[in-house]
Amino acid sequence: MTHAPANPGRAYVPAAIGTEAATFRATTRIVAGPGALARTRAEVERLGSPRLVVVADRSLDRVGLLQHILSEARLGDLVVETVLTDVDPDPDPIEAAASTARAANAQAVLAIGGGSGISAAKAVALLLTNHVPVRSLEGVDKATAPPAPTIAIPTTAGSGSEVSNALVLHDPGRVREITIRGDGYEPHTAVLDAAVLRGLPTEPLLFAALDAISHALEATWARGANIFTDACALRAASELIETLPRAVSGVADGRNAAGGNDPALQRLLEASALANLACGNSGLALVHALSCSPAVPSPHGYQNGVLLPHVAAFNRDVVGPDARDLIDRLPGLYDAMRFPTRFPEGIADADAMIAASSGHAFRANNRRESTDDELRDLLLAAGADYRPATR
Ligand SMILES: [Fe+2]
Repeated sequence: MTHAPANPGRAYVPAAIGTEAATFRATTRIVAGPGALARTRAEVERLGSPRLVVVADRSLDRVGLLQHILSEARLGDLVVETVLTDVDPDPDPIEAAASTARAANAQAVLAIGGGSGISAAKAVALLLTNHVPVRSLEGVDKATAPPAPTIAIPTTAGSGSEVSNALVLHDPGRVREITIRGDGYEPHTAVLDAAVLRGLPTEPLLFAALDAISHALEATWARGANIFTDACALRAASELIETLPRAVSGVADGRNAAGGNDPALQRLLEASALANLACGNSGLALVHALSCSPAVPSPHGYQNGVLLPHVAAFNRDVVGPDARDLIDRLPGLYDAMRFPTRFPEGIADADAMIAASSGHAFRANNRRESTDDELRDLLLAAGADYRPATR
């Protein structure tokens, strides 16, 4: 697939320089490394030993990982309530979880899970201190009180939600997800310990990592990019591209499960958080603008993984040489992972994806502007379905 560059002769100029002030904020305290889980109690004590509500992915309870994490974290008497959430939570169960947490007099949240689990926990943290419907917090800086402090333990390496000030909830029937974002909405502390990734099967491991690579590379072609986000984005993308094949091969040969691949898994986890420090400050761009339609039911990381090479090619001429080198490493990575660059038929509706991106801040934040026709070409190349007769 080829795309004509928007400004063929333009040299790379960091977007923020000469236009508006660069901003960068990274306030989450990160505790990372083998054995970090055992530091969790000390981290809670640093916060004054608040009463904790655990908000965790239900799937972690089913496989016993939740119990293992809680035991390693040595929280014992500090946990006053546990709420389990489903993937892609919508507002109703979030509000029910917050009521349960309030009834237990919880003062802080321990978030355990992947991107959607940590999103749910961050929403509960906001509702602990803001007694309003969660939908009323949609947008930026809508909460009147800061959220209850949250300690996040990510169980996938990809979303970066453990360091992000944004959370996403699903609202069936709407053209887009509900996004809630604000300064101070990020977890107070993130505990990054590769041991929690040991049991991950190939697909969730791979999809989450492709999401993280999307976060890092989107940060390089975002209009909000600056020297600080570039430093995080370039290092994160390089680490992720280099480490992912080793992390994935460790599933098949059993090294991950045995703990023998923890160094690779730890790098993946840390680079995922770093990628989010980049995109959380630069803003996301076209990959995420196209993947935000609830009408496309496949996992976020899978969708972003398929879209990424196409959006990267679209943006290749508007990034600097370091980012271009990383873009050029994608085909080799995808070959090694045997990951597709096309959606199977019947999965992705091009019109729904373009409609979701229309007027979206992520699309406007993409350094190269895009027309709907250009996006339709890009999505067709990515195997999306297009039914002109229904338009
Ligand atoms: Fe993402």
